Amino acid sequence: MISENETVSCYDTHAEAYDLYQSQVVPGYLEMIDLVAEAAHRYLPREPWIIDLGCGTGNASMAILKKIPAKVFLIDGSKRMVRTAVEKISCAYPGAIIGSRVADLSGDDWDEGLGDGAYDAIVSTLVLEHLSFDRYKVAIEKCVRRLVKGGWLLAAEGYAEDGSDMQEWFFQEMEARRLTVDPALSDFVAGLRNDLETHYYTSKVEKAGWWREAGFSEVNVLWQYLCIALMAGRKPS
Ligand SMILES: C[S@@+](CC[C@H](N)C(=O)[O-])C[C@H]1O[C@@H](n2cnc3c(N)ncnc32)[C@H](O)[C@@H]1O
Repeated sequence: MISENETVSCYDTHAEAYDLYQSQVVPGYLEMIDLVAEAAHRYLPREPWIIDLGCGTGNASMAILKKIPAKVFLIDGSKRMVRTAVEKISCAYPGAIIGSRVADLSGDDWDEGLGDGAYDAIVSTLVLEHLSFDRYKVAIEKCVRRLVKGGWLLAAEGYAEDGSDMQEWFFQEMEARRLTVDPALSDFVAGLRNDLETHYYTSKVEKAGWWREAGFSEVNVLWQYLCIALMAGRKPS
């Protein structure tokens, strides 16, 4: 665990409860994960090499592996999250994991030794919104470097748009769904997230601009559920 990062320590603390909470409480979560897998199926070559950036418990990788054979490299700041992801994936898809590491995505060395132009895709679901804007820009530049020509970044994040109540609506819906989960678990996870998680939100237009500045083309939104959207961008061939 990267102890000084409160957001990461929050996830490290509730790694075991994560899947239940996420699937039942976060609106659109399973649909988003499914569409990441659909996009991998549609856009990637046979047996692609993929980095799961901020892998959490490995749900995006699991969904992709259910659809296509692939090799995945798992990265997250939380040791417990990485351990859970490794256990889940290696049990269901032996041989699919080509590496894993605990690393801070807001730091400079999380991609050390990963190889230039080595990966067909980088998938990142509900992670990049935790990076401050300057670190976000550095992280996506690193993503461009690690991708093969024609490789894809598929990233789902929360967005904030001026003149829209979609964030408020989303959080109200999440609060209503919390009532469907065991109150002890729900209060525990929600309390942690309220106290420790930091988000940096801006608009899709602004982030798409940063993706283009970093070197991505074909930048488009593939899916959106209220304030959460899945964006795709391609490293030019
Ligand atoms: C909402 S979870 C998403 C996990 C997974 N991608 C999924 O869709 O279920 C956010 C994840 O980002 C990780 N994370 C947040 N900030 C990070 C940072 N600076 N460095 C590395 N991991 C980070 C957390 O540890 C957590 O596993």
